Amino acid sequence: MNDKPKIASGLEGVIAGRTSICKIDEDQCELFYGGYSIDDLALNSNFEEVTYLLLNGDLPDKKVLEDFCNKLSAEREIPVELINIIKELPRETDPMDVLKITVGILHTSDPDGTSNTDDANMRKAIRLIAKIPTIITYDYRITNDLEPVEPNARLSFASNFLCMLNGEEPESYKSDVLDKSLILYAEHGLNASTFTARVVASTLSDLHSAVMAAIGALKGPLHGGANERVMEMLLEIGDVEKAEPWIKKALSEKKRIMGFGHRVYKKQDPRNPIIKGLVKELGERLGNNRWFEISQKVEDIVTAEKGLHPNLDFYSSSAYYLLGIPIPLYTPIFVASRVTGWIAHVTEQYNDNRLIRPRSEYVGHERRKYIPLEDR
Ligand code: ACO
Repeated sequence: MNDKPKIASGLEGVIAGRTSICKIDEDQCELFYGGYSIDDLALNSNFEEVTYLLLNGDLPDKKVLEDFCNKLSAEREIPVELINIIKELPRETDPMDVLKITVGILHTSDPDGTSNTDDANMRKAIRLIAKIPTIITYDYRITNDLEPVEPNARLSFASNFLCMLNGEEPESYKSDVLDKSLILYAEHGLNASTFTARVVASTLSDLHSAVMAAIGALKGPLHGGANERVMEMLLEIGDVEKAEPWIKKALSEKKRIMGFGHRVYKKQDPRNPIIKGLVKELGERLGNNRWFEISQKVEDIVTAEKGLHPNLDFYSSSAYYLLGIPIPLYTPIFVASRVTGWIAHVTEQYNDNRLIRPRSEYVGHERRKYIPLEDR
């Protein structure tokens, strides 16, 4: 009898641990952070409140939220040494690599140093979440010969991001779209980057190392990198009339259509109707329905041809494009949001840790006779 454990390719369907951070109900197409539906959070909450929820497990009251927002906005500045390092990096450095490098440097300068207590990690978390948007926008402006715009503690997380990027305070309907997309991106169970962060944390390495590794995992086009590829595809299609031949050709060449499909959701990504509605509304408000119309056409064809549905990355791309955000910043924005989920999982891992160490089935050569170099 063969009682060898079965291999789950890509770890599909494997339950690798317990969590109370996020529940994915793929059958009902629902997603909950700490028991709160993503629909309710996107409609009523903001990114700062969701960040508090993910880090603490509960929604804050007014006073607690105000204190938390003040702590976050007070930590937005980045050290001069870090700005100088960003200036020294080769211009063509990928913004995701800039994030990995700078998060590593923030570890060495963090006032809590190597301390791994809950309190120290909460302070480190707030610093990291607050500083990542500053790094993204400073790097963008420096590499484009623009003067960096200092963070403005008076503005919300989303407004401040757009202000540091463009040099002017955004209209509130624009920062609302970014804010809601940040809520949707914040957490999603044991996705590849969060799993990576938990593997690193399970060795009892530090929070910053877990975040750096997670950034590396998110960068790939099958994960967070997809949102940039989606916009490149939409731009290449360029016209609603060209969508059908473009997609059919790509599918006949066995290409993957970015922004479609999901390991867990086979019926619908519950975040999709929310971001899709936002893009439609934003396009109407800006008098530019082109990207929504092309996207809708692409969705119709891919769903009819392959039975695949859009994931969060698909319509997020047009939202960011309509907001005037440069394409190379789409995945870094995903980092700015998902870092909250990563940190929540890293903390959960530390609090009930066991080293994550799976096995593999060996399929290589059986024992071979070693032949000395001179006889080969
Ligand atoms: N376009 C075309 N075909 C696809 C796509 C796609 N986007 N997604 C899956 N398929 C096909 C595969 O080619 C494969 O077909 P085959 O059986 O004929 O070879 C089949 O569907 C199953 O594909 P898998 O890769 O095994 O499915 P998996 O569950 O592992 O994939 C993934 C999930 C990686 C997200 C996949 O759907 C994909 O590559 N999508 C495009 C990239 C993307 O949008 N990533 C973002 C993910 S969500 C996020 O990070 C927020």
